[in-house]
Amino acid sequence: MVTTNPTVGRGGPNPLAALREEVARRRAAGRPLIDLSIGDPDEPTPPAVREALQGAVGPVSSYPTGLGQLATRRAVAAFVERRHGVEVDATTQVLPTSGSKEAIFHLPFAFLDPAGPRRTVVWGSPGYPTYARGTRYAGGEAHGVVLTEADGWRLDLASLDAELLARTCIAWIGYPHNPTGATVDLGYLREQLEVARANDILLCSDECYQEVWFDEPAPSLLEVAGEGAKGMLAVLSLSKRSGMTGYRSGAIVGDAALIASLRTLREDTGTASPDFVQAAAQVAWADDVHVAERRAIFAAKREVALEGLAALGLTWSGSRATFYVWVRVPGGDDLAYATALLDADVVVTPGRAFGAGGEGWIRLALVPDVSGCREAMQRWTAAQQQGLLPA
Ligand SMILES: Cc1ncc(COP(=O)(O)O)c(C=O)c1O
Repeated sequence: MVTTNPTVGRGGPNPLAALREEVARRRAAGRPLIDLSIGDPDEPTPPAVREALQGAVGPVSSYPTGLGQLATRRAVAAFVERRHGVEVDATTQVLPTSGSKEAIFHLPFAFLDPAGPRRTVVWGSPGYPTYARGTRYAGGEAHGVVLTEADGWRLDLASLDAELLARTCIAWIGYPHNPTGATVDLGYLREQLEVARANDILLCSDECYQEVWFDEPAPSLLEVAGEGAKGMLAVLSLSKRSGMTGYRSGAIVGDAALIASLRTLREDTGTASPDFVQAAAQVAWADDVHVAERRAIFAAKREVALEGLAALGLTWSGSRATFYVWVRVPGGDDLAYATALLDADVVVTPGRAFGAGGEGWIRLALVPDVSGCREAMQRWTAAQQQGLLPA
């Protein structure tokens, strides 16, 4: 009998399996569901980005390099300087990736020694599950630190005990935060980098939602990293910034020595960004107008959602950036609440999908257009008025 890597499926039975099956069953039966569960907004990719990709598909197709095109690395470096006021060397500090998910997944393969004493990777729970999954496949231990509303959903490395810090090789932070929409300031980022450096921990910042802010621009870890960005990496993405989830395009930026190790690893992963995608990425990174337009659309949807929730008497937390709203569920059972809401043809994600710290909350992803979001809130209100939801 062939063997299976025990890490495959190690997450155990998915707590959402029954709910997901029910959603699929109802969709197949033709129910008019409004889906607020997947972080993939409906807004189109900017025409100039689409045209750049189409124009770059030539008669001959060759392997892309792990290092990526210099023009792409320059476009990312120019964005970082324009947006964050930080100069990075496009030749040594930037690597294009096929989206940020694969970059996050593969990162521990370069920096985690599965036979060594420091095989722990720390992440905040609730959080993006790929931090833990990549760690486990690389032979490490994923340590989810439970985040709380009282702490603003912030992972604070200084609060971890010395024994945990001593066996940690990588720490993941990611603000604006999925699923809570919480934000942080430069002081927070500075403090985390100080603790990480003092403990020889590689600090990685998942900046997938960096451009989806409302009150003030979200800061990057690069802004506090100083000359050479020692001991840190920021993972960027065009998915949410430019409506390019299907293109699979992102970048890793930071410490040149770490980028060199990643480059060596990534020659083996087969996840180099295709050249025609890089042509589109160059256009997307160079333009900020479409990003501001998308922000305005997300802000309008958020207003509709927050007004609707306030009228329902529900409370939310974080939710200051990203296109997610993090709602406390009456009764405290996120799975029961999401299942009840499904009867009103509204699909949301129970917080437990993002780890232990997410229980008791649901995440709304403002994916449909403004009128779709309004319709979802109307259905929700009708369900509550009819007493169909946990109170
Ligand atoms: C927090 C976070 N990081 C990274 C990703 C991966 O995004 P992509 O691979 O599309 O760049 C996602 C996707 O939803 C996410 O929510």
